[in-house]
Amino acid sequence: APLSYQSSSQRRKRCNFGIAFDIDGVILRGRVPIGGSPRALRRLYGDSGELNVPYLFLTNGGGIPETKRAKELSELLGVNIMFSQVVQGHSPFRNLLKKFENELIIATGKGDPTLVMSEYGFKKVVSLEEYASYFESIDPVSQYKRWTTMPLSDRKMPTLPRCDVSSERIKAVFVVSDPVDWGRDIQVLCDVLRSGGLHREANRNQPPLYFAADDLEYQAAFPSKRLGMGAFRIALESIFNRINPKGLEYVSYGKPNPFVFKNAEAILNQLQSSLCLDHSENNGVPRSHPFKTLYMIGDNPSVDVKGAQQAGRPWFSILTRTGVFRTKDNHAEFPADLVVDTVEEAVDYILKREC
Ligand code: G3P
Ligand code: MG
Repeated sequence: APLSYQSSSQRRKRCNFGIAFDIDGVILRGRVPIGGSPRALRRLYGDSGELNVPYLFLTNGGGIPETKRAKELSELLGVNIMFSQVVQGHSPFRNLLKKFENELIIATGKGDPTLVMSEYGFKKVVSLEEYASYFESIDPVSQYKRWTTMPLSDRKMPTLPRCDVSSERIKAVFVVSDPVDWGRDIQVLCDVLRSGGLHREANRNQPPLYFAADDLEYQAAFPSKRLGMGAFRIALESIFNRINPKGLEYVSYGKPNPFVFKNAEAILNQLQSSLCLDHSENNGVPRSHPFKTLYMIGDNPSVDVKGAQQAGRPWFSILTRTGVFRTKDNHAEFPADLVVDTVEEAVDYILKREC
C-alpha cells in the first residue's frame, strides 16, 4: 500500500530512528501474538493507518515467500505490513540467483521452500521430498513413517521431469527453513553432498550448501526452547564428517551475520526516505538521512544481541524476556543495551526516548 506523508515537523522529528523486530519469541510464539505485540505495532502508525516509524521484521525463520509472510503477519497482528518489511533468514538467497538461476538445485525445510526459491527466480528447484521420491528405498525406514503413506499424487509435486533428477548433478543445496524429517534429510543430503546426487559417483566435489540461519535453539509454541536449523547443521555435519574424508563445507546466512544488519539498515533507509520525503527539498527525489539509532528488539542474546553488537553504530539492542532469554539480569556474554519484559515495553521505551 502507498505510504502517506506527514507534516514536515512531525516527519523530521521521527525519522532519525528505526526498529528491527525479531519474530519468534518477541512478536509471536508459534502463530500466537505475545508481549502485547499488536498494540506495540499499532503505535508505529497514525490514526488513519499511515506508517509513522520505519520498521521491519528481521527473523531467522522462514519457509514461505516474503509476500505471503507479510500478509500472514498483517492478519495476525492487525496492521498493514508490506513485503519489503519482512526479511527472513533465506531472503539473501536471492543474491545467489546469478550463479544458480538455471541449475538444478535442492531446496528443503518446512513450509514451501521450492515456492520461496521460485519466487526469487530460480528456475530448476526440486524439494528434497520430491527428489527422494524418485529413488526407491533411498530412505530405508520410510515405510515406518505414517506421514509418508499419503499418496504421491496428493502431495504438492512433482515439478520437474523424472530424468532430470536422476541423470543431472545437483548444483547446490539450500536449507531454506527448519527441516521436517531430519533422518531422511540427513541420509539424502549425505548422498547428494558426496556425489551431487549421481549415486554411483561418490567423493566428487561437494556441491555448495547454504543454510538460511544457524540458530541452535529458538522459541516456538512449546514452553521450552526448540532445536533450530543450527542443531540440524551440527547433526548433518557430524555424520557427514564421519563418512566422508573431507569435512562438510557450508555457508550460513541470517543473524548474527553483520551483513544482515547492513541490509536491514539499507531497507530501513529506503523506508525512511519514503516516509520523510520532503518534495521541495530535493526536487522530489527521495533523500535519506543517516539514522541516529536503529533498535534491534530480540529474544536471543547470541543471535539478536550479538548481531547488533557486531554491527556497531547506530544499532542499539533490546532484549525481551518472552523467548529464549528469560532471566532477571542481563545476559553475561552478550549483554543488551536494555532488557525489558515485553516488546510492548520496548516500543514504549523507544517512543518516549525518541519523540
Ligand atoms: O526457525 C526460526 C528461528 O530460527 C528464529 O526465528 O524470528 O527468532 O529470528 P527468529
Ligand atoms: Mg527470536
